[in-house]
Amino acid sequence: MWFYLAVLLGFYFFRRWYRERQIVENLTEKYVFITGCDSGFGNQLARQLDTRGLRVLAACLTQKGAEDLKRLTSDRLKTIILDITITENVAAAAKWVKQCVGNKGLWGLVNNAGIGDPSGPNEWLTKDDFAKVINVNLFGLIDVTLHMLPLVRAARGRVVNVTSIFGRLPYIGGGYSPSKYGVEAFSDSLRRELHSFGVQLSIIEPGAFSTPLLKSIEEKFRETWSRVPSDIKELYGEQYLEKLCKICQRINKDASQNLSLVTDSIEHALTSCYPRTRYAAGWDAKLFYIPLSYMPTSLTDYMLTCFMPEPAQAV
Ligand SMILES: NC(=O)c1ccc[n+]([C@@H]2O[C@H](COP(=O)([O-])OP(=O)(O)OC[C@H]3O[C@@H](n4cnc5c(N)ncnc54)[C@H](OP(=O)(O)O)[C@@H]3O)[C@@H](O)[C@H]2O)c1
Repeated sequence: MWFYLAVLLGFYFFRRWYRERQIVENLTEKYVFITGCDSGFGNQLARQLDTRGLRVLAACLTQKGAEDLKRLTSDRLKTIILDITITENVAAAAKWVKQCVGNKGLWGLVNNAGIGDPSGPNEWLTKDDFAKVINVNLFGLIDVTLHMLPLVRAARGRVVNVTSIFGRLPYIGGGYSPSKYGVEAFSDSLRRELHSFGVQLSIIEPGAFSTPLLKSIEEKFRETWSRVPSDIKELYGEQYLEKLCKICQRINKDASQNLSLVTDSIEHALTSCYPRTRYAAGWDAKLFYIPLSYMPTSLTDYMLTCFMPEPAQAV
């Protein structure tokens, strides 16, 4: 029995490996629009796809980000300045993309732009702090997607949404996890709707990677703490903040430097004839967070609270 099971499993993995190696044709004629290309995954992905010969339309938040990227890439790559929270900018970007792609349509839309701050224990934050993150990571992403969908549909192309393992398992409070849970839900419903139009949607779930988003988190915690009302500060105590910052330092130290684990997954989602629905990127995501997300809540609560500091006035 074990023999037959091993053969079946072997056959399954071989078939999957073989199917996933099939690459779509005419990549050099395909246009891909990426948000958040100033730094991190978006920046590396824009350069990687440009090297691969695809026609990259890179949206940067800042002029400097766009100029730096242009310097490192070929003439094929075009940039635009885009803040995804401003609908007029998003509409103008969609118009610009339409002009660039003509009647070919847009092969790939990569929703990558995102922020992590403000984060921290929920009680340290205000409704506006939550709204700031959700506005970029969820509403901005939805707005960009709705504006670009007609162009993606015209190409029977791909949508790739970058979420996070914190869209499976929240570790720290604030708007980040709710925004990523929202992106997971939006992506799941949209994928089923788009199936009828020949458009495929993939979700990328990275673990911890060494990008500006992660590197700035300790400094951002301290900034948030400085705004916390004094009664809440007494409840948690200064040493809670210090322990939280130590955890950040450890996460940063252990974070993967290999951003290709994420950008290769996105590239596969855009170029394989058989893209996956979900890509987990990084060993922490694959071996810790995602398996833990399937465990009973009591176990995940126990595991995650083991890593959290105790507030000064804990009972
Ligand atoms: N790093 C990780 O460990 C990790 C893990 C899981 C998921 N992710 C996700 O991966 C994605 C990329 O993050 P990253 O780690 O590469 O961090 P990053 O280097 O900070 O990249 C985020 C990009 O989004 C841009 N951006 C911020 N606000 C924007 C807005 N309102 N409109 C348009 N662009 C905006 C940033 O521009 P500026 O550089 O000019 O601010 C930057 O280019 C995010 O969605 C993040 O949630 C990251």
